[in-house]
Amino acid sequence: MDKSQQICIMGLGYIGLPTAAILANRGFNVHGVDVIPEVVKKTNSGEVHIVEPGLGSFVKSAVFSGKLLAASNPIEADIFMIAVPTPIDDKNIPDLSYVFDSVNMILPFLKNGNLIIIESTSPVGTTDQVKEMIINARPDLDSVHYAYCPERVLPGRTMKELIENDRIVGGDSTEAAEKAKQFYSTFVEGDILITNSKTAEMAKLVENSFRDINIAFANELSIICDKLNINVWELIRLANRHPRVNILRPGSGVGGHCIAIDPWFIVSSAKSDSKIIRMAREINNFKPVWVTNKIASLVSDYKERYHKEPVIACMGIAFKPNIDDLRESPSLQIVDTLLDQERELLVVEPNIEEHEKFELSDYNDAINKADILLFLVAHDEFKELSIPEGKTVLDICGIFE
Ligand SMILES: NC(=O)c1ccc[n+]([C@@H]2O[C@H](COP(=O)([O-])OP(=O)(O)OC[C@H]3O[C@@H](n4cnc5c(N)ncnc54)[C@H](O)[C@@H]3O)[C@@H](O)[C@H]2O)c1
Repeated sequence: MDKSQQICIMGLGYIGLPTAAILANRGFNVHGVDVIPEVVKKTNSGEVHIVEPGLGSFVKSAVFSGKLLAASNPIEADIFMIAVPTPIDDKNIPDLSYVFDSVNMILPFLKNGNLIIIESTSPVGTTDQVKEMIINARPDLDSVHYAYCPERVLPGRTMKELIENDRIVGGDSTEAAEKAKQFYSTFVEGDILITNSKTAEMAKLVENSFRDINIAFANELSIICDKLNINVWELIRLANRHPRVNILRPGSGVGGHCIAIDPWFIVSSAKSDSKIIRMAREINNFKPVWVTNKIASLVSDYKERYHKEPVIACMGIAFKPNIDDLRESPSLQIVDTLLDQERELLVVEPNIEEHEKFELSDYNDAINKADILLFLVAHDEFKELSIPEGKTVLDICGIFE
């Protein structure tokens, strides 16, 4: 593919910025657009506004070679890529307003022959909706190609996985899918699999629902085992010795901006048929509530025994081990509930420097000072700790399994 092509990427976040930096390092001219001026400013000075290992050096070389320029507005380009947020609202309905806003922004710059790729996780039919929106606004654009290519990277490994993962490319036509495949093959080393846009949209949602359902099974088991006084970790270890069983690990719920959200996109498209998908969401959403109820009973036992309020150390608030990402974190939700209940808390998160709402404690201090140690996230640092005598431990994430 001709590397002199101009790429315009809408959204310079966890997905857009690494993609922009990789493409620019491969020789494309990349124009990255973001609506947050600080993101644009930082990117143009070769800095990154998110934490992602390896990203800094890619952005620096992309910017200083002149191949990556960030801006607040799009320009004319050959390929437009959309990597803006697709959250859900308070009724679990997908909010596509960022996608539609970004489409409105690129509208005046589109030309026939352009390829528009949506990477934002989207409900089935979004690519068709975007196409319709563009054709309605600009009937002259009768030969634009549309493709949907879901992103599957794992935060923390984005720079590697963007290149190495297999990709699914769905087009509104075979020609569009082929064009998108040609584009991705300039930097993707995994297989690139072609389909239609609806199947590609659904594939992303299904992948995350599969994970959600399996985690829900583990979380439900943890609640049942607690009631039956069975060690769930031992149980799972034993059951997993079956050659065709692989039960995942329970935890404080499901967080992050993918697994906790994407299944709702399926539910919203096929409400009465998405029973197990919806139930998995409900089970995983209930787990932090169950944890706070469990703490309430530990606190009341403690108060009965010692006639004072216990200090609770909340060990970990990220949504999963060894990262700094707090989005949709069930552990953070637990901490918020405990704060609302005016519990005495020490909050520990070794992967972040500070938090706007509460002071963070050092994990060694916290385990010494607290009466109840609540292990919420299995960060590596916690695995090395030896627990002082006399502490009540609630191990939600299997630190001491
Ligand atoms: N982060 C991941 O690991 C991951 C993995 C797979 C899929 N996704 C999906 O990719 C999409 C982007 O996710 P993200 O994590 O990069 O989000 P993000 O919030 O990190 O970044 C999105 C960026 O888009 C910008 N933006 C918003 N509206 C815009 C507009 N109209 N024009 C230009 N920029 C705009 C925001 O300011 C933000 O900087 C989402 O749909 C997400 O579900 C993310």
